[in-house]
Amino acid sequence: MQLRVSAKKHIFDQFVPPADKSLTHRALLFGSIASGTSEIENGLTSEDAHATQECLTLLGNNFVDQSGKMQVVPGAEWKQPEQVLPCGNSGTTTRLISGLIASRNMTATLVGDASLSRRPMKRIKEPLELMGAKIEGEHLPMTLNGSANLTAIRYESPVASAQIKSCILLAGLRADGATSVEEPSLSRDHTERMLTSLGVQVKTEELESGKALVTIVPQNQLPGFHFRVPGDISSSAFFLTAGVLFNREMTAISVGVNPTRSGLLDVLKQVGCDIQISEIRLEMGEPVANVTLSPRGRHPFEIKGNLVPRLIDEIPILAILATQLNGVSSIRDASELRVKESDRIERIASGIRALGGKVEIFEDGMAIEGPTTLVGGHINADGDHRIAMSFAIAGLICKEEVVIDGAETVATSYPQFFSELERIHS
Ligand code: S3P
Repeated sequence: MQLRVSAKKHIFDQFVPPADKSLTHRALLFGSIASGTSEIENGLTSEDAHATQECLTLLGNNFVDQSGKMQVVPGAEWKQPEQVLPCGNSGTTTRLISGLIASRNMTATLVGDASLSRRPMKRIKEPLELMGAKIEGEHLPMTLNGSANLTAIRYESPVASAQIKSCILLAGLRADGATSVEEPSLSRDHTERMLTSLGVQVKTEELESGKALVTIVPQNQLPGFHFRVPGDISSSAFFLTAGVLFNREMTAISVGVNPTRSGLLDVLKQVGCDIQISEIRLEMGEPVANVTLSPRGRHPFEIKGNLVPRLIDEIPILAILATQLNGVSSIRDASELRVKESDRIERIASGIRALGGKVEIFEDGMAIEGPTTLVGGHINADGDHRIAMSFAIAGLICKEEVVIDGAETVATSYPQFFSELERIHS
């Protein structure tokens, strides 16, 4: 599908983001290993969330959609799937469900689309094999031979990745002792917060080296739960950034503001925005609030080190913003961008150049010069939802039209993105 976006004069100032993708995956997964029925309110209904639900259905769990509330009815014990598990475009589905399959006496083959089949799986194969599972393949299709007798490990992850960490912690729920994951800095801690709220013993420590150490004590049974899923800060990033581009106050309603996800707000402060957080509350240990952003400046930003995992998914839209800031913005220590839904360093750079902007790229990031006048042009989303949405927002300020090929990929995380884009400036 081709999306055409042209310049707009002004935009509205408030929006309700879609439900958080990371949290919806986890709610579906945790509900499927609970001992009773769970209820998920305001869960994300996107292609990625659907992939998790479909895999879990093939494993013997049931989902009943009752006027927007999803009941998760777990199978007594997961059953051996009779067909391959279709993970679609979703790295989170693949890596988290692998941890649960690895700790059960079953064999399952996971498959994915072209983008997911390019992404590295050795990063979960290695720790799961150390625990006692057997895995064929370092990319999808990948076959897991799980075991109900996993050995607890202490694993040093070379990257700060919540998908790797969560995979190991979920396998650790059924291991023979406490399992620990060390990571260079703390990645998003949704698994830890949600499991803690379900009574699982999970401890997070900051080591003297600055690294993070997370330890889980095995627990075979989880209680059923009710969870109202907060809005997704990563999806909110597109329209919050649009507010800065249009110099307009913008409010995201009921959005998750977990500190391991809110690096975006830190960067917007660097740029010179005032940020107000109101109506804070907790949902299964996850802070939720209304976020209002008032643009006051256009300073360039610097993203590096521990900040990177706290905003890894927001880098494409922040790169678009950088083209309009007064100076050179820099993004380093972000080589993980190369193994996301696309090689995002290449995709961001080639897209910004296609629109007339200036970028220098490095193995682990980029430097973007601003302010530049974006002219417009042709973008290929390359099966990457965040690339499609970032360049759609760029289209709002380009002199000429921006044409995005493969824009249907936005359904991965934000199926209402097109209607919201229309509404925000109509
Ligand atoms: C996710 C973790 C991140 C993020 C992805 C969702 C999660 O990936 O990019 O969109 O839900 O755990 P990594 O853990 O590989 O960095």
